[in-house]
Amino acid sequence: MGNCNCASAETKDDAPPTGAPAKLTKAGDTKPNGAPFSYLASHRAIKHLGRGAAADTWLFVDRKRNRLVAIKLFPRPIPANLRDSTLSEIKCQTELGPGHINLINVYEAILTPDHLGIVMEYAAGGALTAHVAERWGAAKPGGLILTEDEARYFFRQFIEAVDYCHRNNTAHRDLKLDNTLLDDQKPPFLKICDFGFARHWATDSLYRTKSHLGTPEYMSPELLRNQSKDKKALKDYDPRSVDVWASGVLLLVSLCGAFPWDHTRQHDNFNNDQELDLWLQEVNKQWNESPFIADNVNALSPEARDLLDRIFMLDPTKRITIPEIMKHPWYTKALLPEHQEALDSLHEEQRQVDEHLHHRKLDPVKMAERNKKLEQIVDEACSSEAVQNSSSHGRQLRPLHVLDFKHREITRLDLTERAVLLGQSCKCSEEHATVADRAAGLAEAKSGKLHESASIKSFKSNSSSNGAEKSNGHA
Ligand SMILES: Nc1ncnc2c1ncn2[C@@H]1O[C@H](COP(=O)(O)OP(=O)(O)O)[C@@H](O)[C@H]1O
Ligand SMILES: [Mg+2]
Repeated sequence: MGNCNCASAETKDDAPPTGAPAKLTKAGDTKPNGAPFSYLASHRAIKHLGRGAAADTWLFVDRKRNRLVAIKLFPRPIPANLRDSTLSEIKCQTELGPGHINLINVYEAILTPDHLGIVMEYAAGGALTAHVAERWGAAKPGGLILTEDEARYFFRQFIEAVDYCHRNNTAHRDLKLDNTLLDDQKPPFLKICDFGFARHWATDSLYRTKSHLGTPEYMSPELLRNQSKDKKALKDYDPRSVDVWASGVLLLVSLCGAFPWDHTRQHDNFNNDQELDLWLQEVNKQWNESPFIADNVNALSPEARDLLDRIFMLDPTKRITIPEIMKHPWYTKALLPEHQEALDSLHEEQRQVDEHLHHRKLDPVKMAERNKKLEQIVDEACSSEAVQNSSSHGRQLRPLHVLDFKHREITRLDLTERAVLLGQSCKCSEEHATVADRAAGLAEAKSGKLHESASIKSFKSNSSSNGAEKSNGHA
């Protein structure tokens, strides 16, 4: 598939684990050959979903709620240099996930003697990478990979989610096909995952940051250029513009099936100055002159070219913004009827979520307590002491040193909003039914994939409840 790594998507399906004792995986193992976490009575492992640098993600059944969940498992001890990003990943996802249908929602953090797990909503359709790769195989020579109509359907959902993040003072900073998942509806809804590089800023501060991180193929020139061992030499950049550039790469790869700039020759632009210079020379070239997409570029409409021209502005101050993208003629062009129908239903679900968010009242004390507990859990996950003290047998109880968690083998932290609602608790009929659960329940009910789960029942009972209950913030 040209120079696109779509064919080697991160996702891989291992055979479901047998009844044999769990063989625990550590980062660096070539391949997990058994489900970690199988000693957790509350969840049953189904299959491996994907692997990144620091964690493996697995599909599990949440036995109690009878629903499928994805759990991202960080082997312990988490390296100290990943402590802040792990904490920030969970915090960002906890804060943003329930508020937008196109973001993966998070339910719980679980600390076991061997792993820190983030339990989250499962996207059954896999990564957009695989969808584009599948279309790539069937594309006609000289044609586009996704049609512009289909790409627009996905891009609208994608940009709406990015806009939501930015409006909530968070930039994702690792937007890419691999982190863009699909559910199993037809046509699918899109879900952005992986907030490992996300950056949150205070409401009254400038949207500026200095860190040099991201996935090279998606990194904008100002970000690529901004690297130095001397931290003081790093310059500020606007992380929102960085997200815009990455969104353009995602769109272009979806349409043309290849990255516009050759990343294979200069892959070490993080450590090697010479390779960085060569890479920057590449990125400074016009996107539409790239030899890697030469076969497909002529098939693009003038509106698509214009949008990509505006996204791939080398000067970030001249680059199109997310609100401007949402007004661009390519973006606003009418969708195919089936896509429009799907988006209408998604927007109706989103409207219910917005209404709920507007009425709900969160308890600042409970939120502060939860944040503190989360920090303790992440610190504990980073501590090598607990792991070293343990026996080599993964199932044995290990001493944990944080006061709250003493003598417990498994520590769980509820990350749903139910845990931080003001007052007693949500009046929902099911304990874990957040509004996003209910929206997910509606989606499941529509797709008919899962039988009626607790969250679906809860959705139904709540959507038929009266307005008085809503005004209490428990819609
Ligand atoms: N909620 C989910 N549902 C389905 N698949 C997922 C989910 N989260 C992650 N994955 C799969 O696992 C891969 C790695 O997860 P990700 O959170 O991106 O980890 P990393 O930070 O290591 O890149 C993703 O690219 C995707 O294929
Ligand atoms: Mg990822």
